[in-house]
Amino acid sequence: MTRVIVVGCGHWGPLHVRAFETLPGAEVAAAVDSDPARLSRLKALHPGLRTGTDFARMLKAVKADAAVIATPSATHYRLVRVALEHGLHVLCEKPLCLTSSEALELGALARRKKRVLMTGHVFLFNAGIVKLKELIDSGELGGIHYLSFTRTNLGPIRSDVNVAYDLAAHDVSIANWLLDAEPRRVSATGGVFLQDRIHDVLFATLTYPEDRLVHIQASWLNPKKVRQLTVVGAKKMVSWDDLELNSPLAVYDRGAQVTPEYSSYGEFLRVSMWDADVRLPKVRTQEPLKVQNEAFLEAVRTGKASRSGPGFSAEVVAVLEAINESLAKDGEPVELS
Ligand SMILES: NC(=O)c1ccc[n+]([C@@H]2O[C@H](COP(=O)([O-])OP(=O)(O)OC[C@H]3O[C@@H](n4cnc5c(N)ncnc54)[C@H](O)[C@@H]3O)[C@@H](O)[C@H]2O)c1
Repeated sequence: MTRVIVVGCGHWGPLHVRAFETLPGAEVAAAVDSDPARLSRLKALHPGLRTGTDFARMLKAVKADAAVIATPSATHYRLVRVALEHGLHVLCEKPLCLTSSEALELGALARRKKRVLMTGHVFLFNAGIVKLKELIDSGELGGIHYLSFTRTNLGPIRSDVNVAYDLAAHDVSIANWLLDAEPRRVSATGGVFLQDRIHDVLFATLTYPEDRLVHIQASWLNPKKVRQLTVVGAKKMVSWDDLELNSPLAVYDRGAQVTPEYSSYGEFLRVSMWDADVRLPKVRTQEPLKVQNEAFLEAVRTGKASRSGPGFSAEVVAVLEAINESLAKDGEPVELS
Protein backbone atom coordinates (compact mmCIF):
# COMPACT_ATOMS: atom_id res chain seq x y z
CA MET A 1 0.00 0.00 0.00
CA THR A 2 1.44 3.41 -0.98
CA ARG A 3 0.44 6.09 1.52
CA VAL A 4 0.31 9.51 -0.11
CA ILE A 5 0.28 13.04 1.35
CA VAL A 6 -1.31 15.57 -1.00
CA VAL A 7 0.18 19.06 -0.56
CA GLY A 8 -1.85 21.93 -2.01
CA CYS A 9 -5.63 21.58 -2.03
CA GLY A 10 -6.73 24.42 -4.28
CA HIS A 11 -8.18 23.67 -7.70
CA TRP A 12 -6.03 20.67 -8.69
CA GLY A 13 -4.95 18.98 -5.42
CA PRO A 14 -8.44 17.66 -4.54
CA LEU A 15 -8.49 15.83 -7.90
CA HIS A 16 -5.36 13.97 -6.78
CA VAL A 17 -7.05 13.10 -3.49
CA ARG A 18 -10.02 11.68 -5.40
CA ALA A 19 -7.80 9.82 -7.89
CA PHE A 20 -5.64 8.15 -5.22
CA GLU A 21 -8.68 7.26 -3.12
CA THR A 22 -10.11 5.29 -6.02
CA LEU A 23 -6.87 3.58 -7.12
CA PRO A 24 -6.09 0.15 -5.70
CA GLY A 25 -2.79 0.01 -3.81
CA ALA A 26 -2.97 3.64 -2.69
CA GLU A 27 -4.26 5.46 0.34
CA VAL A 28 -4.37 9.19 1.07
CA ALA A 29 -2.54 9.53 4.41
CA ALA A 30 -3.20 13.27 4.75
CA ALA A 31 -3.84 16.50 2.89
CA VAL A 32 -1.99 19.76 3.55
CA ASP A 33 -2.79 23.33 2.58
CA SER A 34 -1.53 26.54 4.12
CA ASP A 35 -5.05 27.96 3.76
CA PRO A 36 -7.45 26.40 6.34
CA ALA A 37 -10.48 27.43 4.23
CA ARG A 38 -9.29 25.12 1.42
CA LEU A 39 -8.98 22.28 3.91
CA SER A 40 -12.51 22.85 5.24
CA ARG A 41 -13.87 22.52 1.71
CA LEU A 42 -11.93 19.29 1.20
CA LYS A 43 -13.08 17.93 4.57
CA ALA A 44 -16.69 18.41 3.53
CA LEU A 45 -16.08 15.94 0.68
CA HIS A 46 -13.74 13.58 2.58
CA PRO A 47 -14.82 13.75 6.25
CA GLY A 48 -12.34 11.14 7.55
CA LEU A 49 -9.28 12.70 5.90
CA ARG A 50 -6.46 13.93 8.15
CA THR A 51 -5.52 17.53 7.27
CA GLY A 52 -3.01 20.16 8.35
CA THR A 53 -1.56 23.50 7.32
CA ASP A 54 2.16 22.67 7.55
CA PHE A 55 3.87 20.00 5.40
CA ALA A 56 6.97 19.60 7.62
CA ARG A 57 4.80 19.07 10.70
CA MET A 58 2.58 16.58 8.85
CA LEU A 59 5.67 14.59 7.82
CA LYS A 60 6.45 14.05 11.50
CA ALA A 61 2.84 13.19 12.36
CA VAL A 62 1.93 10.54 9.76
CA LYS A 63 3.63 7.59 8.13
CA ALA A 64 3.78 8.14 4.37
CA ASP A 65 5.59 6.75 1.32
CA ALA A 66 4.92 9.47 -1.22
CA ALA A 67 3.89 13.09 -1.66
CA VAL A 68 1.96 14.88 -4.39
CA ILE A 69 2.97 18.53 -4.70
CA ALA A 70 0.03 20.50 -6.11
CA THR A 71 0.91 23.96 -4.85
CA PRO A 72 1.68 27.03 -7.05
CA SER A 73 4.62 26.35 -9.40
CA ALA A 74 6.99 28.79 -7.69
CA THR A 75 6.83 26.69 -4.48
CA HIS A 76 7.54 23.31 -6.16
CA TYR A 77 11.33 23.32 -5.83
CA ARG A 78 11.32 23.87 -2.06
CA LEU A 79 8.50 21.40 -1.30
CA VAL A 80 9.87 18.65 -3.58
CA ARG A 81 13.23 19.01 -1.81
CA VAL A 82 11.60 18.67 1.61
CA ALA A 83 9.70 15.54 0.49
CA LEU A 84 12.72 13.84 -1.11
CA GLU A 85 14.96 14.63 1.84
CA HIS A 86 12.37 13.01 4.06
CA GLY A 87 12.68 9.87 1.91
CA LEU A 88 9.35 10.15 0.05
CA HIS A 89 8.64 9.37 -3.59
CA VAL A 90 7.30 12.51 -5.28
CA LEU A 91 4.72 13.27 -7.94
CA CYS A 92 5.01 17.02 -8.56
CA GLU A 93 2.54 19.01 -10.62
CA LYS A 94 3.89 20.63 -13.77
CA PRO A 95 6.29 22.31 -14.18
CA LEU A 96 8.76 20.54 -11.89
CA CYS A 97 10.33 23.90 -10.95
CA LEU A 98 11.34 27.17 -12.56
CA THR A 99 15.01 26.77 -13.53
CA SER A 100 17.18 24.07 -15.10
CA SER A 101 19.67 24.18 -12.24
CA GLU A 102 16.87 23.49 -9.74
CA ALA A 103 15.56 20.65 -11.93
CA LEU A 104 18.99 19.01 -12.19
CA GLU A 105 19.48 19.36 -8.43
CA LEU A 106 16.12 17.69 -7.71
CA GLY A 107 16.90 14.88 -10.17
CA ALA A 108 20.27 14.27 -8.46
CA LEU A 109 18.63 14.29 -5.02
CA ALA A 110 16.02 11.74 -6.14
CA ARG A 111 18.78 9.50 -7.51
CA ARG A 112 20.80 9.81 -4.30
CA LYS A 113 17.77 8.98 -2.18
CA LYS A 114 16.69 6.21 -4.62
CA ARG A 115 13.23 7.69 -4.84
CA VAL A 116 10.83 8.15 -7.77
CA LEU A 117 10.49 11.74 -8.94
CA MET A 118 7.83 12.27 -11.57
CA THR A 119 6.18 15.42 -12.92
CA GLY A 120 2.46 15.58 -13.61
CA HIS A 121 2.79 16.10 -17.36
CA VAL A 122 -0.72 14.74 -17.59
CA PHE A 123 -1.11 14.97 -21.38
CA LEU A 124 1.46 12.18 -21.76
CA PHE A 125 -1.27 10.01 -20.26
CA ASN A 126 -4.11 11.44 -22.36
CA ALA A 127 -5.56 8.65 -24.53
CA GLY A 128 -5.75 10.89 -27.63
CA ILE A 129 -2.12 11.99 -27.31
CA VAL A 130 -0.99 8.41 -26.65
CA LYS A 131 -2.80 7.29 -29.83
CA LEU A 132 -1.22 10.17 -31.75
CA LYS A 133 2.23 9.04 -30.56
CA GLU A 134 1.45 5.54 -31.87
CA LEU A 135 0.44 7.01 -35.25
CA ILE A 136 3.66 9.05 -35.49
CA ASP A 137 5.91 6.19 -34.35
CA SER A 138 4.27 3.74 -36.79
CA GLY A 139 5.39 5.92 -39.70
CA GLU A 140 1.83 6.24 -41.05
CA LEU A 141 2.08 10.05 -41.13
CA GLY A 142 5.51 10.05 -42.78
CA GLY A 143 8.23 12.37 -41.53
CA ILE A 144 6.80 15.14 -39.35
CA HIS A 145 7.02 18.64 -40.84
CA TYR A 146 5.40 20.62 -38.05
CA LEU A 147 3.08 20.70 -35.02
CA SER A 148 0.81 23.62 -34.23
CA PHE A 149 -0.75 24.00 -30.74
CA THR A 150 -3.54 26.28 -29.55
CA ARG A 151 -4.30 26.35 -25.82
CA THR A 152 -6.55 29.18 -24.67
CA ASN A 153 -9.16 29.92 -22.05
CA LEU A 154 -10.29 32.74 -19.80
CA GLY A 155 -8.27 31.96 -16.64
CA PRO A 156 -7.13 30.63 -14.32
CA ILE A 157 -4.80 33.64 -14.16
CA ARG A 158 -1.63 32.98 -12.17
CA SER A 159 0.49 35.50 -10.35
CA ASP A 160 3.53 33.34 -9.50
CA VAL A 161 4.37 32.33 -13.09
CA ASN A 162 3.54 33.47 -16.62
CA VAL A 163 1.53 31.70 -19.30
CA ALA A 164 4.62 29.87 -20.59
CA TYR A 165 5.20 28.03 -17.30
CA ASP A 166 1.50 27.54 -16.70
CA LEU A 167 -0.01 26.60 -20.08
CA ALA A 168 2.77 26.16 -22.65
CA ALA A 169 4.42 23.69 -20.22
CA HIS A 170 1.77 21.19 -21.40
CA ASP A 171 2.51 21.76 -25.09
CA VAL A 172 6.28 21.60 -24.66
CA SER A 173 5.92 18.29 -22.83
CA ILE A 174 3.64 16.92 -25.57
CA ALA A 175 5.95 18.10 -28.38
CA ASN A 176 9.12 16.71 -26.76
CA TRP A 177 7.39 13.39 -26.16
CA LEU A 178 5.76 13.07 -29.59
CA LEU A 179 8.95 14.01 -31.44
CA ASP A 180 11.18 12.17 -29.00
CA ALA A 181 13.52 15.16 -29.07
CA GLU A 182 14.16 18.59 -27.62
CA PRO A 183 14.20 21.87 -29.55
CA ARG A 184 17.51 23.38 -30.62
CA ARG A 185 16.17 26.94 -30.81
CA VAL A 186 13.16 28.86 -29.54
CA SER A 187 11.74 32.25 -30.33
CA ALA A 188 8.78 33.75 -28.47
CA THR A 189 6.84 36.95 -28.32
CA GLY A 190 3.89 37.67 -26.08
CA GLY A 191 1.80 40.23 -24.30
CA VAL A 192 1.66 41.56 -20.75
CA PHE A 193 -1.76 43.07 -20.10
CA LEU A 194 -2.91 42.35 -16.55
CA GLN A 195 -0.01 42.13 -14.12
CA ASP A 196 3.45 43.62 -14.01
CA ARG A 197 5.92 41.50 -16.09
CA ILE A 198 3.67 38.40 -16.24
CA HIS A 199 2.88 37.38 -19.82
CA ASP A 200 -0.80 36.56 -20.43
CA VAL A 201 -0.39 35.46 -24.05
CA LEU A 202 2.42 33.72 -25.87
CA PHE A 203 3.32 32.93 -29.48
CA ALA A 204 6.36 30.65 -29.59
CA THR A 205 8.19 28.86 -32.40
CA LEU A 206 10.44 25.94 -31.50
CA THR A 207 12.88 24.37 -33.97
CA TYR A 208 13.61 20.68 -33.43
CA PRO A 209 16.29 18.53 -35.08
CA GLU A 210 15.69 17.83 -38.81
CA ASP A 211 14.02 21.27 -39.08
CA ARG A 212 10.76 20.07 -37.57
CA LEU A 213 8.81 23.08 -36.34
CA VAL A 214 6.48 23.50 -33.37
CA HIS A 215 4.27 26.52 -32.89
CA ILE A 216 2.53 27.23 -29.58
CA GLN A 217 -0.19 29.79 -29.02
CA ALA A 218 -1.13 29.92 -25.33
CA SER A 219 -3.29 32.40 -23.48
CA TRP A 220 -5.33 32.65 -20.29
CA LEU A 221 -6.89 35.86 -21.58
CA ASN A 222 -9.17 34.54 -24.32
CA PRO A 223 -12.94 34.10 -24.51
CA LYS A 224 -12.79 30.50 -25.80
CA LYS A 225 -11.47 27.31 -24.26
CA VAL A 226 -9.41 25.62 -26.97
CA ARG A 227 -7.11 22.58 -26.60
CA GLN A 228 -6.02 21.74 -30.12
CA LEU A 229 -3.05 20.38 -32.02
CA THR A 230 -2.44 19.92 -35.74
CA VAL A 231 0.28 17.53 -36.89
CA VAL A 232 1.45 17.80 -40.48
CA GLY A 233 3.41 14.85 -41.81
CA ALA A 234 4.82 14.14 -45.26
CA LYS A 235 2.16 11.46 -45.90
CA LYS A 236 -0.81 12.35 -43.67
CA MET A 237 -2.05 15.03 -41.31
CA VAL A 238 -3.82 14.74 -37.95
CA SER A 239 -5.91 17.09 -35.89
CA TRP A 240 -6.44 16.59 -32.13
CA ASP A 241 -9.14 18.34 -30.18
CA ASP A 242 -9.18 17.48 -26.49
CA LEU A 243 -12.70 18.87 -26.12
CA GLU A 244 -14.06 16.39 -28.70
CA LEU A 245 -14.66 13.65 -26.18
CA ASN A 246 -15.87 10.92 -28.56
CA SER A 247 -13.36 11.32 -31.37
CA PRO A 248 -10.51 13.66 -30.41
CA LEU A 249 -8.35 12.60 -33.39
CA ALA A 250 -8.94 12.91 -37.13
CA VAL A 251 -6.40 11.47 -39.58
CA TYR A 252 -6.47 13.22 -42.95
CA ASP A 253 -5.13 11.42 -45.98
CA ARG A 254 -4.25 14.80 -47.41
CA GLY A 255 -1.03 16.42 -48.46
CA ALA A 256 1.14 17.95 -51.11
CA GLN A 257 4.41 17.07 -52.76
CA VAL A 258 6.76 18.55 -55.29
CA THR A 259 8.15 16.35 -58.03
CA PRO A 260 10.64 17.24 -60.77
CA GLU A 261 9.29 16.94 -64.34
CA TYR A 262 11.34 16.87 -67.50
CA SER A 263 10.24 18.13 -70.89
CA SER A 264 11.85 19.52 -74.01
CA TYR A 265 11.99 22.91 -72.27
CA GLY A 266 14.09 21.50 -69.40
CA GLU A 267 13.35 20.55 -65.82
CA PHE A 268 10.57 22.14 -63.80
CA LEU A 269 8.88 21.32 -60.50
CA ARG A 270 5.31 20.14 -60.29
CA VAL A 271 3.30 20.51 -57.12
CA SER A 272 0.68 17.82 -56.69
CA MET A 273 -1.85 17.59 -53.90
CA TRP A 274 -4.06 14.80 -52.72
CA ASP A 275 -7.23 14.89 -50.67
CA ALA A 276 -8.58 11.45 -49.78
CA ASP A 277 -10.34 9.98 -46.75
CA VAL A 278 -10.58 11.30 -43.22
CA ARG A 279 -10.46 8.62 -40.49
CA LEU A 280 -11.55 8.98 -36.88
CA PRO A 281 -9.52 6.42 -34.92
CA LYS A 282 -11.18 4.82 -31.92
CA VAL A 283 -9.79 6.35 -28.74
CA ARG A 284 -10.71 4.68 -25.47
CA THR A 285 -11.42 7.58 -23.12
CA GLN A 286 -9.86 7.23 -19.68
CA GLU A 287 -9.29 9.92 -17.10
CA PRO A 288 -5.68 11.03 -17.80
CA LEU A 289 -5.00 12.04 -14.18
CA LYS A 290 -5.95 8.58 -12.96
CA VAL A 291 -3.80 6.88 -15.62
CA GLN A 292 -0.89 9.15 -14.70
CA ASN A 293 -1.25 8.47 -10.97
CA GLU A 294 -1.47 4.74 -11.64
CA ALA A 295 1.82 5.03 -13.56
CA PHE A 296 3.32 6.82 -10.55
CA LEU A 297 2.22 4.00 -8.21
CA GLU A 298 3.67 1.46 -10.64
CA ALA A 299 6.98 3.37 -10.69
CA VAL A 300 7.02 3.38 -6.86
CA ARG A 301 6.36 -0.38 -6.83
CA THR A 302 8.89 -1.33 -9.51
CA GLY A 303 11.43 1.50 -9.37
CA LYS A 304 11.05 1.62 -13.18
CA ALA A 305 11.49 5.07 -14.75
CA SER A 306 8.22 6.70 -15.73
CA ARG A 307 7.27 8.64 -18.86
CA SER A 308 7.85 11.98 -17.11
CA GLY A 309 10.83 11.32 -14.88
CA PRO A 310 13.43 13.88 -13.78
CA GLY A 311 15.41 13.91 -17.07
CA PHE A 312 12.33 14.55 -19.21
CA SER A 313 11.01 17.13 -16.71
CA ALA A 314 14.32 19.01 -16.65
CA GLU A 315 14.28 19.22 -20.47
CA VAL A 316 10.80 20.78 -20.34
CA VAL A 317 11.99 23.32 -17.76
CA ALA A 318 15.01 24.17 -19.94
CA VAL A 319 12.68 24.93 -22.89
CA LEU A 320 10.43 27.09 -20.68
CA GLU A 321 13.49 28.99 -19.46
CA ALA A 322 14.57 29.59 -23.06
CA ILE A 323 11.05 30.75 -24.00
CA ASN A 324 11.17 33.19 -21.08
CA GLU A 325 14.56 34.50 -22.18
CA SER A 326 13.29 35.03 -25.72
CA LEU A 327 10.14 36.76 -24.39
CA ALA A 328 12.36 39.15 -22.43
CA LYS A 329 14.35 39.87 -25.63
CA ASP A 330 11.20 40.49 -27.67
CA GLY A 331 11.43 37.32 -29.77
CA GLU A 332 15.17 37.07 -30.26
CA PRO A 333 16.01 33.40 -30.94
CA VAL A 334 17.57 31.54 -28.00
CA GLU A 335 19.72 28.46 -28.69
CA LEU A 336 19.50 25.42 -26.42
CA SER A 337 22.58 23.32 -25.87
N1 LIG B 1 -1.88 19.00 -14.83
C1 LIG B 1 -2.81 19.91 -15.04
O1 LIG B 1 -3.57 19.87 -16.01
C2 LIG B 1 -2.95 21.03 -14.04
C3 LIG B 1 -4.14 21.75 -13.97
C4 LIG B 1 -4.24 22.77 -13.01
C5 LIG B 1 -3.14 23.04 -12.20
N2 LIG B 1 -2.00 22.30 -12.32
C6 LIG B 1 -0.83 22.59 -11.46
O2 LIG B 1 -1.17 22.33 -10.11
C7 LIG B 1 -0.56 23.27 -9.25
C8 LIG B 1 -1.64 23.94 -8.41
O3 LIG B 1 -2.54 24.59 -9.26
P1 LIG B 1 -4.00 25.01 -8.73
O4 LIG B 1 -4.75 25.45 -9.93
O5 LIG B 1 -4.56 23.94 -7.89
O6 LIG B 1 -3.61 26.28 -7.84
P2 LIG B 1 -4.47 26.90 -6.63
O7 LIG B 1 -3.89 28.25 -6.42
O8 LIG B 1 -5.93 26.72 -6.89
O9 LIG B 1 -4.07 25.96 -5.40
C9 LIG B 1 -2.82 25.95 -4.81
C10 LIG B 1 -3.01 25.66 -3.32
O10 LIG B 1 -1.71 25.52 -2.72
C11 LIG B 1 -1.77 26.11 -1.43
N3 LIG B 1 -0.40 26.40 -1.00
C12 LIG B 1 0.42 27.38 -1.43
N4 LIG B 1 1.63 27.28 -0.84
C13 LIG B 1 1.55 26.22 0.00
C14 LIG B 1 2.49 25.61 0.89
N5 LIG B 1 3.72 26.06 1.02
N6 LIG B 1 2.07 24.52 1.59
C15 LIG B 1 0.82 24.06 1.47
N7 LIG B 1 -0.10 24.58 0.65
C16 LIG B 1 0.26 25.65 -0.09
C17 LIG B 1 -2.66 27.31 -1.59
O11 LIG B 1 -3.24 27.73 -0.37
C18 LIG B 1 -3.72 26.79 -2.57
O12 LIG B 1 -4.83 26.28 -1.91
C19 LIG B 1 0.23 24.23 -10.16
O13 LIG B 1 1.56 23.82 -10.22
C20 LIG B 1 -0.41 24.05 -11.53
O14 LIG B 1 0.53 24.25 -12.57
C21 LIG B 1 -1.89 21.31 -13.20
